[in-house]
Amino acid sequence: MPRGARFRAPTAGLLILRNGPYGTGPRDIRMPHHATDILRRRLVQGALGLTASLALPGRLRAWLPDRAPDGAGAAPPDRYAPVVARFPHILHGGDWNPDQWLHEPAVIEQDFALMEKAGCNTFSVGIFAWGRLEPAEGRFEFGWLDEVLDGLARRGWNALLATPSGAKPRWMSEEYEEVRRIDAQGRREPHGSRHNHCFTSPVYRDKVRIINTRLAERYKTHPALAGWHISNEYSGTCYCSFCLAAFRAWLRSRYATLDALNAAYWSAFWSQTFQWWDQIDPRESPMDALSLDWQRFTTHQTVDFMRHEIAPLKAATPHLPVTTNMMGTFGGLDYWRFTEISDRMSWDAYPQLRDWRAAVGLAMTHDMYRTMKGGLPFILMESTPSNTNWQQTPSLKQPGQHRQEMLLAIGHGADATMYFQWRKGRGAFEKMHGAVVDHEGSDRTRVFQDVAAHGALLRTLDAVVGTTVRPEVALVHDWEVRWALGFTQGPRRGPGEWGAPYDKEYVPTLVDHYRPFWKLGISVDAIESLSPFDRYRLIVAPMLFMLKPGVVERLKAFVTGGGTLVLTYLSGVVNETGLVHRGGLPGSGLRELAGVWAEEVDSLPPDAPRRITAVPGNALGLIGEHPVRDYCERVHAEGASVLATCAAGFFAGMPVLTVNRVGAGRVYYLAARPAEDALHDQVVAGLARTVRLTRNLDVDLPEGVTVQSRSGGGRTFLFLHNCTDRELSIDLGVTRLTDVTDGTVLAGLAHLPPFMSRVVEIS
Ligand code: GAL
Repeated sequence: MPRGARFRAPTAGLLILRNGPYGTGPRDIRMPHHATDILRRRLVQGALGLTASLALPGRLRAWLPDRAPDGAGAAPPDRYAPVVARFPHILHGGDWNPDQWLHEPAVIEQDFALMEKAGCNTFSVGIFAWGRLEPAEGRFEFGWLDEVLDGLARRGWNALLATPSGAKPRWMSEEYEEVRRIDAQGRREPHGSRHNHCFTSPVYRDKVRIINTRLAERYKTHPALAGWHISNEYSGTCYCSFCLAAFRAWLRSRYATLDALNAAYWSAFWSQTFQWWDQIDPRESPMDALSLDWQRFTTHQTVDFMRHEIAPLKAATPHLPVTTNMMGTFGGLDYWRFTEISDRMSWDAYPQLRDWRAAVGLAMTHDMYRTMKGGLPFILMESTPSNTNWQQTPSLKQPGQHRQEMLLAIGHGADATMYFQWRKGRGAFEKMHGAVVDHEGSDRTRVFQDVAAHGALLRTLDAVVGTTVRPEVALVHDWEVRWALGFTQGPRRGPGEWGAPYDKEYVPTLVDHYRPFWKLGISVDAIESLSPFDRYRLIVAPMLFMLKPGVVERLKAFVTGGGTLVLTYLSGVVNETGLVHRGGLPGSGLRELAGVWAEEVDSLPPDAPRRITAVPGNALGLIGEHPVRDYCERVHAEGASVLATCAAGFFAGMPVLTVNRVGAGRVYYLAARPAEDALHDQVVAGLARTVRLTRNLDVDLPEGVTVQSRSGGGRTFLFLHNCTDRELSIDLGVTRLTDVTDGTVLAGLAHLPPFMSRVVEIS
């Protein structure tokens, strides 16, 4: 099938969300590698899987987690166990596809020798190998996999054995058409390439159960088996009769009656009222609540599919961890809903670290994967050792950048640095994708040497394994909030990237709020709005557009108890089905909490002269005038003190930044989107002073340098990164630092070469 042949414009009523794992703007939006992937990564989906319903008086049943998020309530551990219990080292390796080389066993033998030289120890195997494992229905061939696992075991290494559901064998597509998805236009998709199976199809589920059971039973006592790599990058959605029926059943369990659903959807609009459940079709709707529920359902169904995949594995190997590799801040699934069934979180990061700003979005995403399991170290499951073959201009890594990219991940909590891919294949779609072993085939390449140097470095970092960070600051990154923002038409069209016309730049906005903390070297957790708040001193919740049930009450308790909360424009606008709160915004009690009324929101053209002016002598120490972009609200202070006002037009003099004292805490409200770093930097510097936040290293850092931290076992490791291509210096004053990897002592004016990352302890 020619590239692009399967790409179709989105159906009306569906929002297609852009895929930006790093959230650093269009240049960093990840370009998926072929049309099927484009489609799967763009289709909307979602769910409140893993939830229980609570009856709330006078409204539809609200959905909340049926247990506290990980770690909530219990004292978090000082140091966690390694990913692989018997292997107390940082894992190093990646996706290995010996199934593509069965015709050349010598290559596989050579791989083992090269792995040794590269300091690798862990490989994901069998990810797309269903065709090799079950070449015909019911005929299984495990001999080759036996040899691969035996080879790993002989060397004391680890296999993250994959379930092969990410790519189905051709015989299955032919024999059982129901395993192939139905697209938004109602057409049965062809066999295609990968990541395109129906998550509801009983046949597919049965075939997955059989192959997963076979794998689990065969290898459950194999010494190489260290964990399960469940499928690959789950994504996409299907409109077959099984999926639509499951969706309607899910809606029934959520709303109980059609009247409740109609009310929640505001379906009198354009005569949309549903008379029968079977009329509900997520593809055609001017009701954003329906699109939102389809997102939730798709997450629910994907989680359910993953649970189905895991069942036979846990039956055979209850002691082994299961994980599935995710795609950063991918818009199509609410990854928070996967945390309970994943023993570890893992994700695939393909940053282009051309300048330090790209490192910031990456850092925020790493933080989220650590936060998702309450601080448990995560797995960097894929990264490229060189370049990709699907970005617009995939740059090679400059000297130092590979080490830096790996230490960035570890510094934010990764206990595994893994690659896609170990060896370049000779043909097909990914033959030009970077790999540890090039077509040249030896250990002499620059890339191989970089990888081997990282492997050697890891031998000095065993003490880092299991350590973590307990930040005082949390940033709210909530998929449902993002979906609600994206499905709501207005108050302006977004940049429209990836067919998301109502996109409000949610993830890039989060990065804007995260960046000042990164610059100061202050650690941050990235939570969702259902996460526990009480472990933080400062919570920043940009564009908290949708308020899930209970969130306002919990925020109130947080602030009253002494916490500091930062809210922005477009907060508290809708409830969980997208109905706008009446009684003035920010709604549902946020107006009282923030002490402001946001009467109107203006949508700004690019040249709008609107500016933010600091009020002289304001409590945050803000100075100067700052440009704004996109949004500016007309806000009235209702008890809050004004720290900055608007400087132009009929908004002149109106509050733009306010603070309201509530109990022992404070609520800040920022009514416009700053166009530049300066205001964000000043606000966070002011907050850091007011809230007395701890910097990881108490020295001034030049732009492009950050310090992250991991502690445990009585030690604190600082990760010092110069993410620029220039040599920079830090004045350490009286502080002396010792590099734990090579013993270098840093004192006085410490020089950091371009792209230098160090792991240090205060001596
Ligand atoms: C990932 C995928 C891998 C490989 C890689 C290329 O999204 O999981 O199988 O395709 O991209 O960068």
